[in-house]
Amino acid sequence: MYNQLERILFSKEQLEKRVKELGATLSNDYKDKNPLLICILKGSTLFYADLVRAMDIHLNFDFMAVSSYGAETRSSGEVKMIKDLDCSIADRHVIIVEDIVDTGFTLKYLTKLLCARKPASLKICTLLNKPSRREVDLTPDYVGFEVGNHFVVGYGLDYDEKFRNLPEIGVLKEEVYK
Ligand code: IMP
Repeated sequence: MYNQLERILFSKEQLEKRVKELGATLSNDYKDKNPLLICILKGSTLFYADLVRAMDIHLNFDFMAVSSYGAETRSSGEVKMIKDLDCSIADRHVIIVEDIVDTGFTLKYLTKLLCARKPASLKICTLLNKPSRREVDLTPDYVGFEVGNHFVVGYGLDYDEKFRNLPEIGVLKEEVYK
């Protein structure tokens, strides 16, 4: 896998340190609120698993799946729900846990959908943010790292369903997808 990467962007240690910091911030902000953390499948799974273990407050899990790019590296702007939540979010403090905000289409769709269910609050926590690629007005509340205009893989993020199991985050060589 490593020979298909241009370079490593974030090492295991950098990811671990930043996720712990985010966990501590969320624990502080959501103390006594019993938040519901929504994992957006599949890209957020590793981030989610580490983030919840970095939080020392009571919280609940739920999972949602939305359409991904498939073997494309660009968003079509169309988002489809593949799996909905199991529980009601009415009057709950909800945190959407996402792997990366790129164009913003996915989270725009999700926040609109979830807001209509009347949560007590709704925030976005994303491991990576690519602000230079934004096509809709959307600002995540909690961000692990800002990244430039690269296609990145690893730590849950894929290209064509591969590379999710890389423990680091790396920039994919252009020749892999061009
Ligand atoms: P958006 O709707 O364009 O913001 O894209 C959100 C989704 O696209 C993310 O949840 C990822 O699944 C995928 N995505 C966007 N950029 C990347 C990337 O650099 N690597 C891997 N997946 C990405």
